[in-house]
Amino acid sequence: MRVGVTVVPAEMAPASVEARTVEDALRTVTVTVPATSANLGPGFDTLGLALSIYDSLTVSSFDDDRLEIEVTGSGAEEIPRDAGNLVVRSIAHVYADAGRRMPGLRIHAENGVPHGRGLGSSGAAVTAGVLIAKGLLAGDVDLDDDALLRLATELEGHPDNVAPALFGGLTIAWTGERGPQHKKLLVHRGVAPLVFVPGFTMSTSLARSLQPHQVPREDAVFNVSRSALLVAALTQSPELLLDATDDRLHQDYRGAAMPETLRLVQELRAAGFAAVVSGAGPSVLVLADGPAARQAAVEVADAVTDTPWEAHMLAVDVLGGTVRDRAEGST
Ligand code: HSE
Repeated sequence: MRVGVTVVPAEMAPASVEARTVEDALRTVTVTVPATSANLGPGFDTLGLALSIYDSLTVSSFDDDRLEIEVTGSGAEEIPRDAGNLVVRSIAHVYADAGRRMPGLRIHAENGVPHGRGLGSSGAAVTAGVLIAKGLLAGDVDLDDDALLRLATELEGHPDNVAPALFGGLTIAWTGERGPQHKKLLVHRGVAPLVFVPGFTMSTSLARSLQPHQVPREDAVFNVSRSALLVAALTQSPELLLDATDDRLHQDYRGAAMPETLRLVQELRAAGFAAVVSGAGPSVLVLADGPAARQAAVEVADAVTDTPWEAHMLAVDVLGGTVRDRAEGST
């Protein structure tokens, strides 16, 4: 794991300002948020799965307007250490929504979720920010699950990553008259997730720009049937996962921008594994129907690709994001 340099912007924390200790803090909370894989093949912008890789952040609030940010782990080199930081923007969004003044902050982030790889790193940052604000405002402002999902979706744009990051498990997310909603489901214990992470990144906006605005009706019907089947396969019938993860709405269109990813998905599927592009890519998610199948998928991938991929054998995270108050325990 890479370790980044701590940068405290001079204009926000000048050397002449007294150091703040945790005892000076109004409140200190620790938040843990899982990685997520969105789409899962046919469930474009709808289905998401929480996975057992985590970002962990400890945040103290102060009665001033200073901001200190320390980041280690994935993406540490490029993550902004100022008000443009996505965690900070997300905290600020919740405070503004609640009509509260943004406090001074000290943030220490340890990022385990790979950045720019289709594993929900931006959704994790947004979810972390929303949960940090919930913890810092506890007792003053009540944020229920619907409010958390609404606020996170306003920042992220679509709810399929933030719903599993907030609530864990498999989530179906949709936006209705009451705003973004979710249904959480528990995944069958026979489902064994495996993620192949490449060295290169993919931009979600580029991936989205490659999709047509209209698709043939047969393709729409194809995805409706597969995504309905996928809910059954993931919760009851893992043996249906290969058919259930087929997609015609996004993966092929986006493949031109990540040919190695599309090729690995195709090779794994041809060998009988339920492989899909994870989120907007470029990682590949395999929903294996057991640990032995997962090992076999690694061997197939090894044989068919020259691109270096890191294989992560993961579990489904069932808790979602958690908040712990330093003084009071979990909230
Ligand atoms: N559903 C989104 C997409 C997930 O595939 O574009 C990535 O943010």
